[in-house]
Amino acid sequence: MLYRPLGATGLSVSEIGFGAASWWGKPRFAEAEAVRLVHAALDGGVTFFDTGSSYCGGHAEPRLGRALRGRDAAQLAVATKAGTFTQGGRIRRDFSPGAIVASAERSLRNLGLEVLPLLQLHGPGADDLTEALLSTLRSLKARGLVRAIGVNSFDPAVIDRAIALAEVDVVMVDYNVLRQDREPLIARAAAAGKGVLAGMPLAMGHTRLQIARIGSPRDLWYAARGLVRHRREVHEGLSYRFLHQAPEMTGSQAALAFVLANPSVACAVVGTTRMGHLAENLAASGLALPEALRLRIRAAGLTQSQG
Ligand SMILES: NC(=O)c1ccc[n+]([C@@H]2O[C@H](COP(=O)([O-])OP(=O)(O)OC[C@H]3O[C@@H](n4cnc5c(N)ncnc54)[C@H](OP(=O)(O)O)[C@@H]3O)[C@@H](O)[C@H]2O)c1
Repeated sequence: MLYRPLGATGLSVSEIGFGAASWWGKPRFAEAEAVRLVHAALDGGVTFFDTGSSYCGGHAEPRLGRALRGRDAAQLAVATKAGTFTQGGRIRRDFSPGAIVASAERSLRNLGLEVLPLLQLHGPGADDLTEALLSTLRSLKARGLVRAIGVNSFDPAVIDRAIALAEVDVVMVDYNVLRQDREPLIARAAAAGKGVLAGMPLAMGHTRLQIARIGSPRDLWYAARGLVRHRREVHEGLSYRFLHQAPEMTGSQAALAFVLANPSVACAVVGTTRMGHLAENLAASGLALPEALRLRIRAAGLTQSQG
């Protein structure tokens, strides 16, 4: 496993991270298996774990805390998110200073940590980034509860606003073969000294037609997520099926190699619930993307942007 600095935070992170989210954090996914995956990730050198207070109805964060219990927190960069919570099965938003502080304190308990290495605002609007909120973030750092602050958003305008803020150390964007248009944004973030995390680096599996691979309830859930919330990615993914035909590496490894070929990206945060997939993803660290494949990905990106 290779490691990269996370902007100017002083944190070094594994270039393949573990996304403690989606099916992994659901009670329907056996805890023992979820924990086994985290332990295998640790054994494979993963030091960056990303979760959120509202992920999986609030179940993912405490589950990650249980999975990491007994491990040396000083060796790990555990990230969580604040600003959203689950109520009545729906995600609600609250970026008020009081809610952010309460969320950070709850996350510390859930994760069994004394300091949160990275607390990210989970999808704020530009209007949520008020002086009152920024002052609260400064005080969380000053109290020693949070080491670094991040903003996770798929809205370029919000990320640009975050890049301009001294309080923000890290941004997490959706970056993958389908989202090559994020590159100028990522370059601006890196130029401003921000650490950059790539969320959804496998485009949620849509380059391999994830929605048509139904072998278990989790696959049904992935398919429903794609069809209900990510139709655009499902459609765009069809143009990238060639990724999975390369002789040198698997399609997922090619997708990760593409993301990690961007030197401004510190970590590709991948979600998986299958041990075989995890092994494949960990083995992607250090793989060079073959030039012919890179050119084909660029060509597909160009066609996509003109379409
Ligand atoms: N999705 C979002 O809206 C979102 C938003 C904010 C932040 N994030 C962050 O980004 C992380 C990753 O996002 P994500 O999990 O939605 O997307 P992703 O990592 O791009 O893709 C995950 C999907 O790919 C499959 N997969 C993983 N490894 C594979 C392999 N080697 N071969 C084939 N399929 C593979 C997984 O299924 P299996 O379980 O079968 O492996 C799952 O369906 C999250 O954990 C979170 O930390 C995501």
